[in-house]
Order: sequence, then C-alpha cells, then structure tokens
Amino acid sequence: MPDVAQRVFPSDRVGLASRYTELLATEGVVRGLIGPREAPRLWDRHILNSAVLSEVVPHGASVCDVGTGAGLPGMVLAIARPDLTVTLVEPLLRRTTFLDEVVDELGLHHVTVVRGRAEDLHGAATFDVVTSRAVAPLERLLGWSMPLVAPTGALVAMKGRSVEDEVSSAAVVLTTWRCGPPEVLEVGTGVVDPPSTVVRVRWSDPARIGWPLAREPRRRRQGRERRAAKREVN
Ligand SMILES: C[S@@+](CC[C@H](N)C(=O)[O-])C[C@H]1O[C@@H](n2cnc3c(N)ncnc32)[C@H](O)[C@@H]1O
Repeated sequence: MPDVAQRVFPSDRVGLASRYTELLATEGVVRGLIGPREAPRLWDRHILNSAVLSEVVPHGASVCDVGTGAGLPGMVLAIARPDLTVTLVEPLLRRTTFLDEVVDELGLHHVTVVRGRAEDLHGAATFDVVTSRAVAPLERLLGWSMPLVAPTGALVAMKGRSVEDEVSSAAVVLTTWRCGPPEVLEVGTGVVDPPSTVVRVRWSDPARIGWPLAREPRRRRQGRERRAAKREVN
C-alpha cells in the first residue's frame, strides 16, 4: 500500500481499503472483473484515483455510482466515507455478486447494490451525487444519469483527456436536459499524478428540472435527441 493511502483513508478505514484491493487482485482477476495486468497497479490507477473523488462529494450525501463494475469509484468512496449512503448500480450479475460479497465481508451497511441499468431507476430515486467512471461519453451519460440527480444535486463523472471534446459534443443534450454549464475540475493534486479530471453538471434551475423529459419513454427521447443533434449539424 502506498504511504499516501494513509492520508486519503481515515486511519480506521485504511484496512478496509487494503482488503478490498486484495479482493480485486485475487477474486476480481479470477472472475474476470479486473484485467490481470491491472493487479500490480490497483492502488495508483484505481483505488487512489477513485478515492480522490471524495473532494467533490459533500458530507452526508447520497451517492449513486452508475456502471460501477467491480466498485469503481463507488465502493472506494463508501470505504473512505462512512458519512455517505452509497448505491452501486451495475447490470451484470457476475459483477453485482462480487459487490454483494465485498459489502458483506467489509460490513459496509451504508452501501446498497442494485443489479440493473441506470435507466431502470429513472423516476424511482434521486441522489445528491451521481458518479461514474469509464461508462459512456458525456452525451450519453447525461441521459442515463441526470434523471437520477436531485434538484440541487450533481452528476460527477471521472473523465480523461477527452473531457473538453465530450463537453462540446454534449452541447445539444445539455440544453435539452436544461443542465447548467459543465464544470471541468481537477481532483487529487498531491495524491495522484497526474491529478484526476472530473466533469460536474448541475441542473440550470433546480425549480425547473427535466422531469417531463425524464419520464419520456426511452425510445421517444432518443429519437428526439437524434433529431435535435441532426438539426444542430445542419
Ligand atoms: C468500462 S466499465 C467501467 C466500470 C467501473 N466504473 C470502472 O471504472 O472500472 C463500464 C460499466 O458500465 C456498465 N454499464 C453499461 N451501461 C450501463 C447502464 N445503462 N447503466 C448502468 N451501468 C451500465 C457495464 O456493465 C460496465 O460494468
């Protein structure tokens, strides 16, 4: 475990982080949830990288991690932050089975694992923060995640170098969904090198969020978004 982990995780939680990392390196690799080449670099590329997202998650927030896979970044946030309530959303059974086992073994009573797609929760639940990492380009992610964002909440997606291009490509969808201007932020300075990039999107007017759009059947919404994108190109 790198020394910096002691700074990122509270002293009484660092053992949990270490055990989760061990589970990813063993069961996670055996079950095909993590590539074998990732095992030696789990701390740097995955655990610390996910933990620094904590900087943009308010105290006591409800968090939904969409497309969490083997628990990144949601499980790491839950380990670092017992003040949060965390919902991990993942459609694939193999992955949710692993997540359930981790939650049981580590005694993470503030974590709920939901097997399903983000869209399955639309209209049923909202959260203060909706996180994601490596799930979809922002343009598509908005349609999956914004209906889960509470009126004063935020989508917080971990992104790579493509972030500015993704923000540009998402311009039409951002307007359609009545989102505020996306903020591109760096987190983890002095912890991970390079720092991680996240994009944060809030509703432009919490009193007028896109619920009518969110309730639209998925096919109809996709058709409307496609037509809007086409108009933009022409
Ligand atoms: C490339 S993996 C990333 C996993 C994890 N976030 C990470 O950083 O390692 C993308 C994950 O998104 C999940 N996924 C794809 N579409 C989804 C949807 N509509 N709702 C929720 N999860 C989805 C996939 O099953 C997969 O586990």
